[in-house]
Amino acid sequence: MHGNKGIINFTDKLFSMAYTSLLTSLENGIFIITINRPDKLNALNQQVMDDLNEVMDEVYTNTEIKSVIITGAGPKSFVAGADISEFIGADLNEAKALAKHGQDIFFKIENAPKPVVACVNGFALGGGCELAMSCHFRIASENAKFGQPEVNLGLIPGYGGTQRLTQLIGKGRAMELLMSANIIDANTALQYGLVNYVVPQDELLNKATSILQIINSKAPIAVAGCISAANAVFDESKNGYDIEANTFAECFLTEDMKEGTSAFLEKRKAEFKGR
Ligand code: COA
Repeated sequence: MHGNKGIINFTDKLFSMAYTSLLTSLENGIFIITINRPDKLNALNQQVMDDLNEVMDEVYTNTEIKSVIITGAGPKSFVAGADISEFIGADLNEAKALAKHGQDIFFKIENAPKPVVACVNGFALGGGCELAMSCHFRIASENAKFGQPEVNLGLIPGYGGTQRLTQLIGKGRAMELLMSANIIDANTALQYGLVNYVVPQDELLNKATSILQIINSKAPIAVAGCISAANAVFDESKNGYDIEANTFAECFLTEDMKEGTSAFLEKRKAEFKGR
């Protein structure tokens, strides 16, 4: 179903959500979330952040959703940043709460047990670049532009940008972008490893869909395990090797592991059930 409603399927008792600032659709297990404020270049105001928080609950709990695409409405912008008009007048504690709230929502995206891909269809600046970086990987259209221009506003990134940009492109390049507010184009982002592919804008969703169809055919518990183990690299409170060994072992308890190994030995295609 397309439109500004979530999924309605009363027979299967899927719950339905309506989002003020997002469009959602679900087709063949691929849930597309479109941030829908094109007149403001999809800037992240509190309504969008609240909706993103809620829609991620739906991603976590709705078993019909196998994987997720996040993109922006219109041909010009993915997300042009946090909504600057909401920054005016915040005091120290309010500003800290704003950053923490944003970080928590982006952690929820990063730690989702299903693949989340950013389809960056234009400006990904400030909070938009941070949102894209919280996704598991990124695909850009040829007109995409990336940057953390917060120093232009007398600010630094607050939704994880200083951390994830450094993780993704290395300290030297991240330092330069953070301190200069320079904006890079899609091909530079590709060269830096910030995005996996650059494609014409009208092929953006098809490219993501074709990759997600492949991932959706794999064992879902194993896919979730890849996400949590790879994320552990960047979490100092976790030992990634322990998480890898434990998750590897837990896979042996799944029906899907028995199916995958049997199918290989029997020279047939595995049919995974997510159990
Ligand atoms: N917060 C709030 N509103 C924003 C916004 C943001 N981050 N980014 C864009 N908008 C709004 C503009 O204010 C404008 O609204 P208006 O039509 O009511 O005046 C509308 O979106 C269109 O933007 P505009 O600046 O006219 O488009 P442009 O093509 O001339 O410029 C950008 C595009 C992205 C270069 C420019 O909008 C910009 O620099 N945005 C802020 C980027 C930024 O600093 N992000 C980090 C925020 S922490």
